[in-house]
This record gives sequence, C-alpha cells and structure tokens, in this order.
Amino acid sequence: MGHISALTAWLILAAEVGAVFIILTTAHDPLTVNVGFSVLAGITTWSAIPALSEIFVKAGLKGMDLSKKTKHIIPESMGMVAGLIYLVTMFLFIPFPFMKWFTASNDGDLHELKLLTFPNLKLAELLSALLSIQSMVFLGFADDVLDIRWRFKMPLPAIASIPLLMVYWVHLGVTHIVVPIPLRPILGQLIDLGALYYVYMGMVAIFCTHSINIMAGINGVEVGQSLVIACSIAINDMIFLQSASTGAPAIETHLFSLYFILPFIGVSLGLMIHNWYPSKVFIGDTYCYFAGMTFAVVGILAHYSKTLLLFFIPQIFNFLLSAPQLFRLVPCPRHRVPRYNRQTNLMEPSRVVLDEEEDFEVEFSSTKQESKRTLGRSPSSVSLSSAGAAGASTQDSDESPTESSNPPTTIRLQDLRPLKNSKLKRSGWYCVKILEALGLTHVRYDSKTGKRPLEMTNLTILNLILLKAGPMSERNLTISVMVVQFCCSLVAFFIRHRLVAFVYDVV
Ligand code: UD1
Ligand code: MG
Repeated sequence: MGHISALTAWLILAAEVGAVFIILTTAHDPLTVNVGFSVLAGITTWSAIPALSEIFVKAGLKGMDLSKKTKHIIPESMGMVAGLIYLVTMFLFIPFPFMKWFTASNDGDLHELKLLTFPNLKLAELLSALLSIQSMVFLGFADDVLDIRWRFKMPLPAIASIPLLMVYWVHLGVTHIVVPIPLRPILGQLIDLGALYYVYMGMVAIFCTHSINIMAGINGVEVGQSLVIACSIAINDMIFLQSASTGAPAIETHLFSLYFILPFIGVSLGLMIHNWYPSKVFIGDTYCYFAGMTFAVVGILAHYSKTLLLFFIPQIFNFLLSAPQLFRLVPCPRHRVPRYNRQTNLMEPSRVVLDEEEDFEVEFSSTKQESKRTLGRSPSSVSLSSAGAAGASTQDSDESPTESSNPPTTIRLQDLRPLKNSKLKRSGWYCVKILEALGLTHVRYDSKTGKRPLEMTNLTILNLILLKAGPMSERNLTISVMVVQFCCSLVAFFIRHRLVAFVYDVV
C-alpha cells in the first residue's frame, strides 16, 4: 500500500484489528458481528481499489471522464471490487446467524433436536439472496465488458431474482395486498394478486437495477444515491427493531435486511472515497446492478417492497421523465449526461437534436391540406433534389429530376417521410410539447417559423436540476442529487410512519 502514509496504514490496521476483535468477542450476536464485518469490508474496499486500478486499465477496463478539461483514462468497473468484497464478507458471515446451532452439544437427542429445529428456510433465504446479488454482479461486469444491448439486458434482473422468488414462495408465500381503509367498502380488506405478485417482484428487481444505471454519469452520483437509499433502509430497519409493537417475524425480516445493507454501506463508502469528484475510478454498470439487486433482495425478502419504492422516488421520477427517450418516442443519444462547459468549468443541460435547421421547413401538420398550404407558402424552400442529397428515397415518386428541381405546388406527405427533418414522430412531438409545458425540458425551435422543435434538453433529473438551478460544478450537481434523494427519503419516512396511519390500520 505504497499510496498511503505510514500513519494511515497504522490507523487502518488498528481499525481492522478492532473489527476482528468485535467479531470474535460478539460471535453470539450476529448483528454486532455484521457491523464488524462491514467495517472490515469498507476498509478492504478502500485499500484494494488503488492497488487494482492499474490491473483494470491493463485489462482494458477503462473509461474517459466526459466532464473534465483534460481527457484522461480512468479505470472502469470498480464496482466489481466492491461487489466481490461484499460477497466474500457475506459468505464469511453466513455461519453467524446460526451460531447457536453450532455451539449446541452434538450428542444424542440434542443432535436430533438440532436437525429438527434448524431454520433451513432462513439459510435458503440467505443463500438465494446471495445467489441473486452474485448473478447481477456477474451480469453487470459482462455488460461493462461486452456492452450488452438494452433489449437483452432489460429483463436480466427478473431472471436473476428467480432463486429469491422460489424461496419467497416456499417460505413467505404472501401474495395479497392490504387494501387502504377508504377503499375497503368496495374492495374488501385484502386482494390476492396470486402469480401477479411474483411478476410485480420481478419488475421491482428490474426497476431497482436499471433505475440507478440511468441516473448516472457524473462523478460520485451512482454511489451517492445508493448510499442515501441504503442508509434510509438501515434507519427504517432500526426503527422497526426499536418499536415495541414489532412482532417476532418482523424483527427477523428487518434483521435480515440489516445483515445485507450494513456491509453494502461499508463497501460503498470504501468505493465512494475513490469515486468522489474528481473521480480516480469509475464504478461501471457492475456497481449499479449490484446496488439495485441488493435493494431489491432486501425489499422482497423483508417484505417491504412498497416502502423500498418510496426510497426510490427520485429514480421513479427520473424513469418517468426518461420514458420518452427510453421508449424512443424522441431520439435517445448514447450519453445523456449533462454537458461540461470548458470555458466556465460548469455543467449545463445536455441537448438532443430532434430536427435539422437546414433543408425545408415542413411543419408537422395534422392534415394533408395543411401540409400543402405550408409548402405552397414557401415553394423556394421545397426541393426534392435537396431531399435526395439528404438521403431521402424518391424511388416511389413519379417526378423526373427536372420536375424535382422545380418544386411542385402539391406534395404528398408520404413523399416527405424519409427526409431528415421528419425524424421526430408525431407521438414524439406531443411528448416534447407536454414536457415543455410542464417545464421539464427546454426546447429550441427553428429560427424561421419558430414552430419546428430542433433541440431539447435530455430528459434526466440531472439535466432538470441544471435547468431549474442554473449551471453548477460537477461536484455540486452530485451533492444536489444526494440532497434531493435525502429529502425524498424524509418524505418516504413521513408517508411510511405517519401518513400510513390514515390509510392502513397498522403502523
Ligand atoms: C447510462 C445512461 C447514459 C449515461 C451513462 C453514464 C441512459 C439510457 N443511459 O448508459 O445516458 O450517459 O449511463 O454513465 O440513460 N462517465 C463519466 N463520468 C462519471 C461516470 C461515467 O464521464 O462520473 C462516463 C465515462 O465515459 C464512462 C461512461 O460514462 O466510461 C459509462 O457509461 P455506461 O455505464 O457504459 O453507460 P450506460 O449505463 O449504457
Ligand atoms: Mg452505466
């Protein structure tokens, strides 16, 4: 560890010895052991990353920081280190929740009793959860290396959650939802969703993993939001563990949740130190998938997926905002991250091109007549030969080249489709107008008619923050996202622990 001073090295050693001491002396209390392991995992991640950075770069796992003056190469996929250390930590932790069965005497009837009382399903829960997380770490890494296409990687988290859902089916098997009090006269107290509940949980896994990956691209933002969510989950678990009204099964599930979340916080903090502005390492899709799946796992097995989604309010908003680009109603560039302005050293909203200023200005008219009128008003700007130059297909057209250079007064709308300036579909045009009216994007129109949208700001929460608050440094933008995430967590706590009393008869 040549990169750290002797004093820091001694401090690390002291913390590691302290953590091991906690683990050894409190082996009977899994939660305290888990805290010790989490500290160890955090320190190990923090110290392993600089040592492994060069190896990652040599292996081709590197990326370019898009928001810096000088473009230097940065090791990518460092979430793999955090994910692996997390998994090793959790594997080492597996025996501890079952310690009392290990320490019991092995002879005679007691051994029989041990076999009868050992919580096999609890062990199965732990193992299936680790299997699902491990699968997503692996898939995230594969995505970093192979750049898997969205249509293929989209359903993968649901497939990775099947082991988990199997155990859920055997152990908990709860597929009903409690109906809010005001709706009970109509719907009754419970609605059994049956198989749909499993579809819902698969969707939760898909959402948690991908939603972090699309709220990404500036230094520290992926780990930052994940840390706020993880701390919110941990606090929520602690509230339940402290509450006198929490029953034994709920205590078990919230303890289970803490066992998974505390080491996650440990490795994320270790990673964050290197990923914080200015980033020395990138975390890659590996971390986004690892984080998302860890949250999905605890939400599903600890049976609080609705509360979990409350902690994902910014991600839900970002997903809904992104939907027109994700579903290609409007163009979606490879990177939607805010644009770095070299002159000011500040981040500004990035834009996506919707249409071209040049060529002719055919408006999106609802009827053929309107289209004809537009063209008729401005015949000089209509040129089929320029359309041909722009890659338009005129093979269906009857016009000869001579006729093309002399624009006709009437043109069928289908003749114009292949042109560059019909890139924005009608549905996309409506999206642009609605989002603009809601103040969620800024649209630039063509200078001649002022009606044809040429550019819009990319539909992400990062660009929206910049749109509303003005340009800011990359570091401040990450902090802003974390503040938004924190405020949404406060709202989530208020809804879950206060507002819920008006809607449900359980707190
Ligand atoms: C997702 C987003 C994409 C965004 C990208 C940024 C969608 C549909 N996709 O794509 O819009 O641009 O994440 O991660 O919303 N990078 C930085 N600084 C950072 C982190 C990343 O410049 O702090 C850049 C680096 O060039 C890095 C690259 O982003 O190599 C990683 O992008 P990748 O994770 O491959 O993008 P996607 O997840 O496919
Ligand atoms: Mg990514």
